[in-house]
Amino acid sequence: MIQSSPLIKLVKIFPWESPTFRFSVATAKMIKPVLIITSILTLTSEMLKDVVRTKTYQNVIYRNKFLFQNKVVLDVGAGTGILSLFCAKAGAAHVYAVECSHMADMAKQIVETNGLSDVVTVLKGKIEEIELPVAKVDIIISEWMGYFLLFENMLNTVLYARDKWLVDDGVVLPDEASLYLTAIEDAEYKDDKIEFWNNVYGFDMSCIKKQAMMEPLVDTVDQKQIVTNCHLLKTMDISKMVPGDASFTAPFKLIAERDYYIHAFVAYFDVSFTKCHKLMGFSTGPRSRATHWKQTVLYLEDVLTICEGEAIIGSMTVAPNKKNPRDVDIMVKYSLSGRRCVVSRVQFYKMR
Ligand SMILES: C[S@@+](CC[C@H](N)C(=O)[O-])C[C@H]1O[C@@H](n2cnc3c(N)ncnc32)[C@H](O)[C@@H]1O
Repeated sequence: MIQSSPLIKLVKIFPWESPTFRFSVATAKMIKPVLIITSILTLTSEMLKDVVRTKTYQNVIYRNKFLFQNKVVLDVGAGTGILSLFCAKAGAAHVYAVECSHMADMAKQIVETNGLSDVVTVLKGKIEEIELPVAKVDIIISEWMGYFLLFENMLNTVLYARDKWLVDDGVVLPDEASLYLTAIEDAEYKDDKIEFWNNVYGFDMSCIKKQAMMEPLVDTVDQKQIVTNCHLLKTMDISKMVPGDASFTAPFKLIAERDYYIHAFVAYFDVSFTKCHKLMGFSTGPRSRATHWKQTVLYLEDVLTICEGEAIIGSMTVAPNKKNPRDVDIMVKYSLSGRRCVVSRVQFYKMR
């Protein structure tokens, strides 16, 4: 498994807005501003260079011009304005690109440089605070997904925009997001991340282990590590759901495909654009081409010795953290009643 650099893990998708980023800025006040700007640009380019992500949006827009022609579009969290530019090229009547960070200033320049100022209007501010020059829009487009789909909680911003501005038969892009769970072998990396604390240069630091166990790890999982089937936990219909639907408990059953050991659960998501002429979308799963979201690894207290055909049965409860709704609290209940291993546990995790 390839470990992310700590900075990338800390600041992730829209760093300049993230509390963790503010933390990293606060603790790194001595870092020259230019370095911080560089890291924002590094992350912006990481997103743009994520070909699975950006090309899918481009293909959805360019191959489905019938959706956009003469339509008013709202781009929620426009960043550099890339999705707005695609929509303008696809024939949208007008695109409102709303971005709360300083990237909005760049987006304005980018729109001008590309001669699209007549079609794209960049508005700097939070969706929840800005006023749109129009009463309604026909389409809402956004790339709001965080690690584990729900980390950073930008989904609520999209739902807010949908309820305020989208016409009754309007389109939300993407309009479906699904969260999946599977189980993997990961002895080497679990040793490195968790058991490491047992003996640090001869000292017992095992008290840190508990904390380490609770932190899901965002990383790339090799598909060879997968031991069970993949179970669909939850599908969200972005055009209809309410914010409360992002808190849920979902049962799962993971059946071993071979005799092996299990060290962790792995969560990942797919998104779909069901209003396209042909269904389009992408997966962030370990069997698909890697994206900057990677996968989310949740280590287990025990190593499960599982035989082919045996099942881990359980449930996952997901909810935004009450104090900081951008964080995600996860509870996993699971049990295995196998020939070589009998386990029943509840584990708590926190994405932050
Ligand atoms: C994941 S980035 C996507 C940027 C761009 N749409 C793209 O696809 O490259 C999400 C963007 O949403 C912005 N954002 C997050 N919350 C927002 C809010 N409440 N109002 C406006 N923009 C927001 C962030 O600053 C960030 O630039």
